[in-house]
Amino acid sequence: MTLAVLPALPAGAAPTDHESETATISQGAVEKNHAGYSGTGFVNFDNVAGSYVEYTVNAAQAGTQTLTFRYANGTTIDRPVSLTVNGTAAGTLSFPGTGAWTTWKTVTKDVALAAGANKIRTTATTANGGPNADKLTVSGVVDTEAPTPPKNLAAKDIKARSATFTWEAATDNVGVVRYDVMRGGNVLKTVEGNTLTTTVDNLQPNTAYDISVGAFDAAGNPSQQSNVVQFTTPPSGDTTPPTAPGNLRSTSVTANSVSLAWNASTDNSGTIAGYDVYQGTAKVATTPSLEATVTGLTANTSYTFTVKARDLDGNTSAASTALTAKTSGAAGGGIPEYDKDITKVDLAWSVDFLPDGTALATERDRFEILRITPSGEKTTLGKVPGAVGTSGEGGLLGIAISPDYATDHAIYLYHTASGDNRIVKMTYENGKLSSASTPVLTGIAKNRYHNGGRLRFGPDGKLYA
Ligand code: GCU
Repeated sequence: MTLAVLPALPAGAAPTDHESETATISQGAVEKNHAGYSGTGFVNFDNVAGSYVEYTVNAAQAGTQTLTFRYANGTTIDRPVSLTVNGTAAGTLSFPGTGAWTTWKTVTKDVALAAGANKIRTTATTANGGPNADKLTVSGVVDTEAPTPPKNLAAKDIKARSATFTWEAATDNVGVVRYDVMRGGNVLKTVEGNTLTTTVDNLQPNTAYDISVGAFDAAGNPSQQSNVVQFTTPPSGDTTPPTAPGNLRSTSVTANSVSLAWNASTDNSGTIAGYDVYQGTAKVATTPSLEATVTGLTANTSYTFTVKARDLDGNTSAASTALTAKTSGAAGGGIPEYDKDITKVDLAWSVDFLPDGTALATERDRFEILRITPSGEKTTLGKVPGAVGTSGEGGLLGIAISPDYATDHAIYLYHTASGDNRIVKMTYENGKLSSASTPVLTGIAKNRYHNGGRLRFGPDGKLYA
């Protein structure tokens, strides 16, 4: 995941300070004998239950706002207060010790305010009275409305390592503060909310890209993604191949596989696109990493392997030094031989185990549930009804088997649907998956990428998502 530097988040409306010394005070005194207060002093609540400070706060519009109380408590005992807004109880606030009367900390609470003047009262609830109260800061309405998706994303000036993107502005009830240019679930570049064109210069030559743009408001609400632009960058014109991979070695063998590892090649461009593993002259594996397992081999047989590196322009290195490795005798049993079959899963996303040790696994993009036995037998049980993809990272996601499976035969699934992400229940009984699902929790927000979806039962028997 590429890290992006985000612009500072401005509040929806500028925060306003309300000094305690100008508030209405009952059973308390304005003092200034402990440094570090703002304004001209702070309020020392009398050490009695019922002493209070009441602030008058004007709100431009009705809605939820964040109250931040700045205080000091030089004792080690909490000084809780009850909070009322316009006479209505709004909970209790805890003001634990800050270490010293000169150490000021903050406590926050979101409350609903009416348009116009609001009376916010903090009343001590214990005989110790309240903390020393410096000020109340009120910050703007908590915004939960996401921007609209940016429209008409287009790419131009596509070069080996860069491309320029333009799009039409997203709109938002408060304002768009940034756009993320995304490749799959990764951010390639972040620009400010008033920017509608940018050149991304960390692309790689001869590489396929799917680019979209998402908008964010100051509260961090993400838009749905824009349209996706697809292109392949041209080769860079480089003709120098990478160096040959070094130190090809076998890291483990089984009766039907050999695992290989090698040292990285280097390339004048700085980037190795991948490695190809050859068994004799046949290419048997391709990987971006420095290891591969060749499967489907015969027991007790010698095989000779070489590895070549490729750069992004398709220049291929000389072959590594050859390695000969011999598979072991026939397997003694007990080790699941998953390798071959599991490569036929479209996108394995989650797995859980039935009481008999059989695995149930989800396929994200085909929305299917697979059953895999400890000996590696794989059966497709069926599709989860109503699951849809997002041309991104949505689909059939988590699976969790009921802790009471022996009696209820229930399995829980998390999937993307046409309007939301949801958790549903199905049954798997007598070798048969139910054809229908029952919703358990609906309305979880969906997006092209980042749909969450992991499910597990806790030791408390509750289902966690
Ligand atoms: C001390 C401290 C005061 C504080 C008081 C209290 O006297 O100096 O600022 O208000 O303790 O316990 O409330």
